[in-house]
Amino acid sequence: MASSLSDTKQTGGSARPLTGRRTKIVLLTASGVTLGFLIAAMYRENFQSQWRQVQREYRHMLLQAPDERQRQLGQAFPIELRQIDLPLLGTTDRCVTCHVGLDNPAMADAPLPWRVHSGDFLKHHPVEKYGCTICHHGQGLATNFREATATDVFWDYPLLPVRLTEASCGACHAADSPLMAKHAPRLARGHQLFLDRGCQSCHKLGGVGGQLGPALDGEGLKIKHQLPMGHVKGEHTLANWLQQHFENPQLVVANSQMRPPRLSAAENEALTIYMLSLRGRDLPQNYIPADRVAAWHAELHQKVKDPVVLYNRFCVSCHGDGTFGQWDKFFLRFNPAIRGPGLRAMADKEYFRAAVEQGRPGTLMPAWGKNAGGLTPEQVTALVDYLAAGDQRPAQPLRPMLETLSGGKPERGGELFTQHCSACHAAGKVAPNLANPVFQKTASNTFIVRTIVNGRADTAMPAFQRDGCASLTDDEIRDLLSYIRSLEKKP
Ligand code: HEC
Ligand code: HEC
Ligand code: HEC
Ligand code: HEC
Ligand code: HEC
Ligand code: HEC
Repeated sequence: MASSLSDTKQTGGSARPLTGRRTKIVLLTASGVTLGFLIAAMYRENFQSQWRQVQREYRHMLLQAPDERQRQLGQAFPIELRQIDLPLLGTTDRCVTCHVGLDNPAMADAPLPWRVHSGDFLKHHPVEKYGCTICHHGQGLATNFREATATDVFWDYPLLPVRLTEASCGACHAADSPLMAKHAPRLARGHQLFLDRGCQSCHKLGGVGGQLGPALDGEGLKIKHQLPMGHVKGEHTLANWLQQHFENPQLVVANSQMRPPRLSAAENEALTIYMLSLRGRDLPQNYIPADRVAAWHAELHQKVKDPVVLYNRFCVSCHGDGTFGQWDKFFLRFNPAIRGPGLRAMADKEYFRAAVEQGRPGTLMPAWGKNAGGLTPEQVTALVDYLAAGDQRPAQPLRPMLETLSGGKPERGGELFTQHCSACHAAGKVAPNLANPVFQKTASNTFIVRTIVNGRADTAMPAFQRDGCASLTDDEIRDLLSYIRSLEKKP
């Protein structure tokens, strides 16, 4: 203290040189410490890094091997970074820096990461042409395992858990090919579930499907920031999101309109694998396998025309088997009985065709025509014939038609409608909204009057005229008809 005071005096008065010297000491120590860290980091990176240890261990294993050829391999084994550059796929993979024994059958019993790769995967997809991340995802450039898995760093596609790796087969191969049935059975099962569980009632895939939920063509490309992760347990990955969303859509997405699909654990995993495989990316020509080309060809030339298959795929998840009008506890509304004895007795094929092709805008009923739901005219015809044939029961018997339909008074019809009908027929109520433009355009006067007079068997729609008891007179029915027709012009 004293000496520094005298120092100050000697150099001429002010306190500045004192602070100057202290700063120097502080700076010197700081740079010393930094240098120490740098040297330590350099030492770690160059001598102690995970991949170097892995490779040294591998060389050691080779040198210890009883087999002469393995020992020779060991002597010639350089400790160095290894990487596979694949500009066509847009990847650079250093995974082989640690996974050095992948193509060495002598490593069958070695632990990871030295173990030989399982199965024939690398035989069919040579490492120099495919790398690793095309199948495993993860961060190809990383040189330590934590960063390679990339679940906790900023990376779009973290390493897939090994049990879900079949998902990547579907990014190139066709999930429904015999090849995948054999080599990626869970992917194939997921695809079949997707068809059988009517997912396309609400989701488009390849342009075909309903519109209540989002199209799923690029589902496997979704990154975690595109999905609500708030209620997802465990790591915030797409795979976990999908699995938990299938268990309970409403828990993951508040007020989701998707019904829980009720899957076993194995089915859930298979469907998750299939969703992850939907990466809809354009592949370079020489990465497109033969079964994918065959599938494209089949898609163009042999569309399903079996109405039962079509109905189960696209309609059943809303309409059930279509034989009874049903209260849908999930959507809190009635679904019309489109295969029941009632509708069939009154509607002609044109009516069915319009409903199927154009849907009912403003309701859950999607349009299925070529430019909307993606069904071909032949597929629509198959469905229309199927609905018009209905279930096994005979068509509902109808009372004779009114002699004339003209002359109704819309004002009086409006009052009657409020009295007798609007408890059910109004926006947000249980029955179809009769102002719907597609309904108005396609329902004939005869159809409307027949529905009111006879009701619709096995649905909530009551008959307003019965033998010996008519709750509405012929005149009143004509009034109602003119009122219902006046709805068309209203917005
Ligand atoms: C064609 C796709 C494909 C490619 C390319 C591929 N793998 Fe795999 N890999 C798989 C599949 C599928 C599995 C799961 C096998 C199973 O379930 O038995 C797997 C399993 C693994 C495992 C776990 C093996 C075990 O024994 O538990 C490791 C490690 C691995 N791969 C590393 C790699 C590395 C490193 C590369 C790049 C050199 C690579 N893979 C390239 C498809 C591939
Ligand atoms: C720094 C060395 C290192 C790098 C780089 C590396 N890995 Fe690994 N990998 C390991 C080790 C070590 C294990 C065993 C981890 C364990 O058992 O916890 C492993 C395990 C795996 C497994 C099996 C995981 C499991 O759950 O069984 C797969 C798959 C895998 N690695 C793939 C890859 C891919 C793909 C890459 C490149 C993106 C890669 N690894 C890069 C060291 C590495
Ligand atoms: C990047 C695209 C790509 C990925 C990912 C991919 N494959 Fe392949 N695979 C090919 C190509 C290209 C061929 C070449 C043969 C052909 O044209 O069918 C092939 C060939 C094969 C073969 C041999 C075909 C035969 O006729 O003998 C099998 C089996 C196979 N793949 C299974 C798989 C499995 C299982 C996965 C997932 C673990 C997978 N592939 C992932 C592109 C891919
Ligand atoms: C009744 C209509 C309906 C059916 C049937 C349906 N979904 Fe959904 N799905 C939705 C709606 C609406 C959403 C959007 C709200 C949400 O994310 O939960 C959705 C969301 C999804 C998402 C998340 C999409 C994203 O990226 O946000 C996936 C994946 C999905 N559904 C898959 C399926 C699968 C697989 C099936 C068949 C088992 C299925 N859905 C059946 C209506 C449906
Ligand atoms: C108790 C509820 C209820 C009442 C009251 C009711 N309806 Fe309906 N109505 C329905 C239901 C439900 C349907 C759909 C039936 C089905 O499942 O196919 C329907 C269908 C119709 C249809 C055919 C619409 C279509 O898209 O197929 C017309 C027209 C109709 N009702 C007119 C009326 C009129 C007019 C009144 C009053 C005089 C009336 N309804 C009273 C429940 C009701
Ligand atoms: C997302 C749920 C949903 C799907 C999927 C769906 N529908 Fe509908 N459908 C409805 C609803 C709701 C209505 C009643 C619309 C209204 O209120 O006017 C309806 C009405 C109809 C009608 C008119 C019935 C009548 O009484 O006038 C026909 C016909 C029909 N659907 C056929 C089909 C066919 C065929 C498919 C499959 C290709 C299908 N629907 C898929 C929800 C759906």
